[in-house]
Amino acid sequence: MTQEIQAHGFDDSTIAELREIAARYPEKRSGLLPMLHLLQSVQGRVTPEGIEVCADLLELSAADVSGVATFYTMYKRRPVGDYHVGVCTNTLCAVMGGDEIFTRLKDHLDVGNDETTDDGSITLEHVECNAACDYAPVVMVNWEFMDNQTPESAVQLVDDLRAGTEVRSTRGARLCTWREAERVLAGFPDGRADEGPGAGEASLLGLRLARERGWTAPDGGDDADDSAAIGAGVPEEPEQKVAGAKESDDDVAEQAAVEEEAPTGEAAADKEEAQ
Ligand code: FES
Repeated sequence: MTQEIQAHGFDDSTIAELREIAARYPEKRSGLLPMLHLLQSVQGRVTPEGIEVCADLLELSAADVSGVATFYTMYKRRPVGDYHVGVCTNTLCAVMGGDEIFTRLKDHLDVGNDETTDDGSITLEHVECNAACDYAPVVMVNWEFMDNQTPESAVQLVDDLRAGTEVRSTRGARLCTWREAERVLAGFPDGRADEGPGAGEASLLGLRLARERGWTAPDGGDDADDSAAIGAGVPEEPEQKVAGAKESDDDVAEQAAVEEEAPTGEAAADKEEAQ
């Protein structure tokens, strides 16, 4: 039987989709993260009503839900514009030009960090490392990568977005609006997942060099094929240390068994005394 809950102003279809997300997991509370993304796709941010409806559906307290929504930076408590533009200003991107890009965009858009332009089109935010350091400096639009940016290309990017021109990520995917992207993050695919390559040349360079030079990874047992791709070129020392530790544990166990069978030295004296 479907549990009756307060709708908190959400329509039937949103409530049904929230229930659908919760039902994907053995423990329904595991659905909280995608549920919050769905609410952002509907309301443009996580609202107090959104927190209440998640709490009711998942049988959590509002404080539990609020704690999650305020912990992760992908959940926004203030309205986000049509496009969320995140400029990486973490160390590598910063020194490669990220700081300059962020300053130029702030001036060009006339907004501060985490602010939205007057026309509601762009929310600018400086973001931490996006694990794309090999393409530094990077800008993200609704979490799609724009690699190897310059202040000039970043200004052109936001101008194109505001003008409604179709823009593609430098990795191929067409950019959608922030709300559309949030719906995808909630687990409702929009068919763009296969647009563009899975990995670019900069990310694959290490793998190519390893293959050219014949570097191989240590035998990882059943997962050897995967580890060979991921760990090519990794020194063998850690594996050897682990093997050494195992050997020494086996030695201690073997010695204990021998002592039990035929006590020698101090162990024999102790046993005699005990008897
Ligand atoms: S420092 Fe910018 S992606 Fe890593």
